[in-house]
Amino acid sequence: MTEAKKLNALVICGSLRKGSMNKAVARTLPELAPPGMTLKDAPPFDAFPLYNADHHQATVFPPVVTALADAIRAADGVIIVSPEYNYSIPGALKNAIDWVSRLQDQPFKDKPVLLQSASGGPLGAARMQYHLRQVMVFLEAFIFTRPEVFVTFAPTKIDEQAGKLKDEPTREIIKHQLALFAQFIERHGTKR
Ligand code: FNR
Repeated sequence: MTEAKKLNALVICGSLRKGSMNKAVARTLPELAPPGMTLKDAPPFDAFPLYNADHHQATVFPPVVTALADAIRAADGVIIVSPEYNYSIPGALKNAIDWVSRLQDQPFKDKPVLLQSASGGPLGAARMQYHLRQVMVFLEAFIFTRPEVFVTFAPTKIDEQAGKLKDEPTREIIKHQLALFAQFIERHGTKR
């Protein structure tokens, strides 16, 4: 029997709040990941300054920015789990992506990326995902396509006490998606 290939994926959550439903989904991923895939939380981006091209030189970036970029580069794949703000990408997450996108060795280039989202409504932050997908196209990420995961009516599917996703059908879809993402990473290889 061949041993499952070891893959490491970095998980970026687009919500900064403690009780985040998206964080709950992200926290559940390790138990749904296929054998051989390990998941690691991304370094925080809540202390990133607002991006202003006047305030940095091309070679000098805040250490918090390079820490996130290095973590993305070191990962075989990246999973972004995010809410939707005003039909789009939350500002803090977009600011973080804008920062790392200015680095010379742009970390998302050729990086397998998977998107997930959760919201209280019936669309599960789908509009955010399509905006984020478009951003990832510009950054030349290898963006995973299907199946998509939108956690709709999220408060009914999350165990608030445990801070985890409890809805069995949703857990099954995510399990399936992560297994396919592992194959996707193996097909596309990594930059490392
Ligand atoms: C929201 N929310 C929201 N929900 C949605 O489905 N579509 C949207 O466009 C928006 N817009 C929006 C804007 C702003 C500024 C806030 C603060 C919230 C609701 C949002 O989905 C809800 O607050 C989630 O709980 C946020 O996700 P976390 O923090 O629980 O992961």
